[in-house]
Amino acid sequence: MSSENASNEFTNLNGTGAGRSDARSDERDVRRAVAPHQRDFPYERGEEAHVTRREFCNFLALTSTALFASAAGFAGKAALDSRRTETFAPAKVEGAESLAPGAALNFYYPSEDDTAILVRTQEGEYYAFGQKCTHLACPVYYERQRQRLECPCHEGGFDVRTGQVLYGPPPCSLDEIVLERRGAEVWAVGRKAGKHERSV
Ligand code: FES
Repeated sequence: MSSENASNEFTNLNGTGAGRSDARSDERDVRRAVAPHQRDFPYERGEEAHVTRREFCNFLALTSTALFASAAGFAGKAALDSRRTETFAPAKVEGAESLAPGAALNFYYPSEDDTAILVRTQEGEYYAFGQKCTHLACPVYYERQRQRLECPCHEGGFDVRTGQVLYGPPPCSLDEIVLERRGAEVWAVGRKAGKHERSV
């Protein structure tokens, strides 16, 4: 019998068996319905058991992998989320144009309560960060000789280009202020949360 017939028979049997409370009977009906298909595509029961065990092991392995991948995905997403850029109303950083290379100035962004620091490197590039140290929120400053952002409270140090922790107890990089050049002017347009780098 073709698989189509088997399928029809399976459908009919299910139809006649609808509403039965005897689960065994249903199983028998299904076995009878698929018997022709089993003849057309035979297999050994022992092999079936073996395959089933193997499939079960594969299933466990796949499930474990999926769970691990899922957990890793969530962790990755959390890490990405933690670095998500928040956009705020653009604000011109006053005095940026005349800032000498190797110098820094303070400004507020995105609100009047958020102190930030703008650094112009010796090469003339601008970088800006939230001024709060990620350890215990002391204000960081630009250390001109070493060209780093440093925290005076517990001697934390940050890279002036990336905000990453160079040494000391801070667990996260500094919040980055996203800058935009508009001619000679420098505008703050967003803030990117600091990346978690280690536990305290
Ligand atoms: S507050 Fe900055 S290192 Fe502790």
